[in-house]
Amino acid sequence: MKLFLSIDAVARALGADELARTLRREAEARGLALDITRVGSRGMAWLEPLVEIERDGVRHAFGPVTPDDVPALLDGRLPGHGPTEEIPFFARQTRLTFARCGVIDPLSLADYEAHGGLTGLRKALAEPAAIVPVMIESGLRGRGGAGFPTGIKWQTVAEAEADRKYIVCNADEGDSGTFADRMLIEGDPFSLIEGMAIAGIGVGATLGYVYLRSEYPDAIATLTRAVERAREAGLLGASVLGSDHAFDIDVRVGAGAYVCGEETSLLNSLEGKRAVVRAKPPLPALEGLFGRPTVVNNVMSLATVPVIFERGAAHYASFGLGRSLGTIPLQIAGNVRFGGLFETAFGMPLGEIVEGIAGGTATGRPVKAVQVGGPLGAYHPVSDYHTPFGYEEFSGSGGLVGHAGLVVFDDSVDMVEQARFAFEFCALESCGKCTPCRVGAVRGVECIDRWKAGEDMRDLVLDLCDTMHDGSLCALGGFTSYPVRSAVTEFPQDFEAAREAARKAAGQAVSQPPKGASAQLSREEAVT
Ligand SMILES: Cc1cc2nc3c(=O)[nH]c(=O)nc-3n(C[C@H](O)[C@H](O)[C@H](O)COP(=O)(O)O)c2cc1C
Ligand code: SF4
Repeated sequence: MKLFLSIDAVARALGADELARTLRREAEARGLALDITRVGSRGMAWLEPLVEIERDGVRHAFGPVTPDDVPALLDGRLPGHGPTEEIPFFARQTRLTFARCGVIDPLSLADYEAHGGLTGLRKALAEPAAIVPVMIESGLRGRGGAGFPTGIKWQTVAEAEADRKYIVCNADEGDSGTFADRMLIEGDPFSLIEGMAIAGIGVGATLGYVYLRSEYPDAIATLTRAVERAREAGLLGASVLGSDHAFDIDVRVGAGAYVCGEETSLLNSLEGKRAVVRAKPPLPALEGLFGRPTVVNNVMSLATVPVIFERGAAHYASFGLGRSLGTIPLQIAGNVRFGGLFETAFGMPLGEIVEGIAGGTATGRPVKAVQVGGPLGAYHPVSDYHTPFGYEEFSGSGGLVGHAGLVVFDDSVDMVEQARFAFEFCALESCGKCTPCRVGAVRGVECIDRWKAGEDMRDLVLDLCDTMHDGSLCALGGFTSYPVRSAVTEFPQDFEAAREAARKAAGQAVSQPPKGASAQLSREEAVT
């Protein structure tokens, strides 16, 4: 019996290792020859631990499977979901970046090559001068949040004169509700290694760093082992795949702070300094790690590079809409029936993702808000459901795509608390370098508290949002305005209700105004 079981951290957290032991024990007791391959995740979180049994070359899905289900599973009595790739959540995807994830043994280079791995690198090595033009033609934009064209960034580094250049992979993945980088590294680490090697050859860098967050122990272990195997196989080292190009990778673990994901603070952290944001210019592409030209790219950006070279830039660019080309691995989380990773061409409307793909809320209550793009993303009301998933389209509706995480909330969510949380998060995570963020976030929490105590703080909070947006040095302070502004403007009823409740409570108590409700904060007070 040939069986596949996820080794992804989510599956392991839900008991996949215990399940594997029970499967082996039970099979041995029955004298059954059982071949278990631990694979990455198929991205259907609600089915984990997912077991797939291969019959006539087709994998059939069972899940979530518990150790108690094992006898029925081995006897063929456990009801399943049919062929994995025919499950609607999976069948509706266009998997390019994640094509191998959940399919191959993550640490088998042979399996990787058998599924198209290294084809892209071989093509790139055949014509290194075409690497940057191919990336520009693909239209790939950075998946870390800013959506900057990857090919243009590479071109800047390629054209810079320096004795040394670097490739830095940003695997800090701090956005709430996101997990694509982790899933990719745990399920298909060679695609990241291959993408970084192509980047290095394209821009003339011989060393790459992966900056991985310490909260991802499984990803750290998998990637470290994959880099060792890549070196042993000659994919990394003095002569990449026998060519006259050298490239190697070092895995570094960050101690963990949201701001460490911001590229310049990440570079400081990599250099062993305190992770404060650097002013730009100079751009990291010209003066990055140790002052040298540096490509800083997200895991998904770099892991998409091999498939662009394997299938061609035009093929990749044939997906998507407008200036958002290719596919985007959406991470669907929060209060949903079907959460997980869903890779699709750009352009699917938000409502289709939330209702059609994720199946609406797990609680069965109506959706009230969807936060798109992590903690700095806007809260979108259901009236934004028509918005197609694309960079320009989301900025047009007052938000951002970010790292493509979606967190869904039902109608029990209190948007006053969400606005407060946005300021609080910023205050906690601020690197402290600039005043609008360091002080503004603290004032923001105070303003929301006064609002909750009965004062009308709308104008002041929106003014503070403008100040933080326009005056902050980086997007942590600047984009905190998105969740706050969207909560205030799209869900005014929650703020009114909070004020009304405070007023009533105050009236019922003594005939005295609530504490702190007497004086309006001046604009100056709010930001200083
Ligand atoms: C506060 C903050 C946190 C960020 N966190 C991440 C992160 O965890 N991962 C990431 O790839 N980019 C993150 N970014 C974006 C990076 O600064 C940078 O734009 C990105 O790594 C560039 O890679 P890309 O062009 O491939 O997206 C963050 C930005 C800010 C302002
Ligand atoms: S916006 Fe915040 S995190 Fe960014 S540089 Fe200013 S203080 Fe630091």
